[in-house]
Amino acid sequence: MMCLKNCVAAMALVIAPAVSFAWPWNNDMANQISVKPQEGPEAVRQYPQHSVPAAGTRTVRVADMDAANKMVNPNRATPASIANGKRMYQIYCETCHGASGQGDGPVGAKLVLKPYDLTADKVQKELPEGYIFGYVTLGGAIMPSYANDLYPSERWDLINYIRHALKSEKPVAVGVK
Ligand code: HEC
Repeated sequence: MMCLKNCVAAMALVIAPAVSFAWPWNNDMANQISVKPQEGPEAVRQYPQHSVPAAGTRTVRVADMDAANKMVNPNRATPASIANGKRMYQIYCETCHGASGQGDGPVGAKLVLKPYDLTADKVQKELPEGYIFGYVTLGGAIMPSYANDLYPSERWDLINYIRHALKSEKPVAVGVK
């Protein structure tokens, strides 16, 4: 009987925090009034009266692949855009998709699902550019999402590089002479 009393007391001590504080508490810090990635300040408060939008970086929400497919590349494929896209590709994509774009990067080689060939006609010609934008933004089954790593404009530059230079350039892996 004594044990039962002690055991119940011990159990109550264990359960108490779960009852008195909102469970689970591991995401308490995230559940607060703060601007989350991809959210504008309107989530917190309204824009002041008479305020005007300022030029600069913008967050772009992409609801799903259907919405992404309809998006149009706002960045022209200028040499500067392609060069910036190449820089982004080397930093973020080459490890998996390879310098050649064919999915033969060192990390890609270790994956069960091989990274798709970005030089294939499907990616080069058939898919809308918005599809690639959506894929980079939302990620795939294995491929991570790059919504928080790359500004929308950097993602469009990346697409200009993939569509206008990746296949025609002679691949040179970063750091390899
Ligand atoms: C961790 C490895 C990895 C990285 C890094 C990566 N990808 Fe992928 N990618 C994949 C894999 C694996 C697939 C195949 C499908 C999937 O996982 O959803 C894929 C698929 C794709 C597709 C779909 C192609 C199609 O035919 O439908 C596109 C487009 C793409 N990647 C572009 C990129 C770009 C651009 C970057 C750099 C920002 C990038 N990926 C970075 C692994 C990666």
